[in-house]
Amino acid sequence: MTLPRVIVLATGGTIAGSSSSAASSARYQAATVPVSALLEAVPALKDVARIEAEQVAQIDSKDMSFGLWARLAARVHHWSTQDDVAGIVITHGTDSLEETAMLLHLAGVASVPVVLTAAMRPATSLSADGPLNLLDAVRVAAHPDAAGKGVLVVINQEIHAGRDAVKAHTSAVDAFASPGTGPIGLVQDALVRFTRAPLRLPRQALPLPQNWPAVEIVASYAQPGRAVVDALVASGVRGLVVAAAGNGSIHETLVAALADAARAGVAVVRSTRTGAGNVIAPAQPNPSAGAFVSAGDLNPYKARVALLLALGADPALAGDPVRLQQFFALI
Ligand code: SIN
Repeated sequence: MTLPRVIVLATGGTIAGSSSSAASSARYQAATVPVSALLEAVPALKDVARIEAEQVAQIDSKDMSFGLWARLAARVHHWSTQDDVAGIVITHGTDSLEETAMLLHLAGVASVPVVLTAAMRPATSLSADGPLNLLDAVRVAAHPDAAGKGVLVVINQEIHAGRDAVKAHTSAVDAFASPGTGPIGLVQDALVRFTRAPLRLPRQALPLPQNWPAVEIVASYAQPGRAVVDALVASGVRGLVVAAAGNGSIHETLVAALADAARAGVAVVRSTRTGAGNVIAPAQPNPSAGAFVSAGDLNPYKARVALLLALGADPALAGDPVRLQQFFALI
């Protein structure tokens, strides 16, 4: 039997991290082990798929950039157009994985399953989680049931929708969660089982911007100043995502500054800093009353990725909260 062909695109992270002390999971250097060594450490891979690997980058994912996103998306697109590729696995740092997953989800760059995986412990640690996560990710990417489910995240034996997965713990091996929705499947040894399909798949692929708009995140908390918002507007920011309290509540000082920003043509999107739940959209967006566009259940980091792509595709959305709200309602 011919095994499915799976491409592994490596970008660095703790899954490729190493330490001089096997006993420490805290003191290590991320992004040092090449993808060839990661694959060699998991002999069982050769029974699951015919693997080809590419070292797209070797970074700590806290340093993710628009340029690397564009390069990664281009490599994903390239490989997905090869006839016999069954799926693509991306090894990534956990710190910004949720943003890259959101980007690839919205960009829709692949016609085959794209599975991001990572590790919380470096490759040299006493009980590294990377080898099993990599094997499980390849199992999912090669599995026929993964087709049509968009970008996926496989870690700690769970399959998450790329739109929903977030890093929710600093150090635990079960650091990833999909707040409010939960995982969409599991991997147990050779068993790959999807328990449901993700419903919020993009209706239309959004191209990555040629010129990335300036989109930043500000937070609401006790007695904030307005200087940060004013400085961002003066610097030419096109969009602001607010990590608001609760159901999108914003301190009155910030509301005044953000309303001025919206009147100046800056897109203002309310998300929540709570970690779960929806920010409910008002019936009529009205920036002067502080009723800005709602990000729904997207956390501020995922909402920023969505706003980057929306404004990149259609800069006029910055001054059109009604249309921008429709965009967020559909993704
Ligand atoms: C990183 O995000 O590159 C480092 C942290 C990790 O992968 O867990």
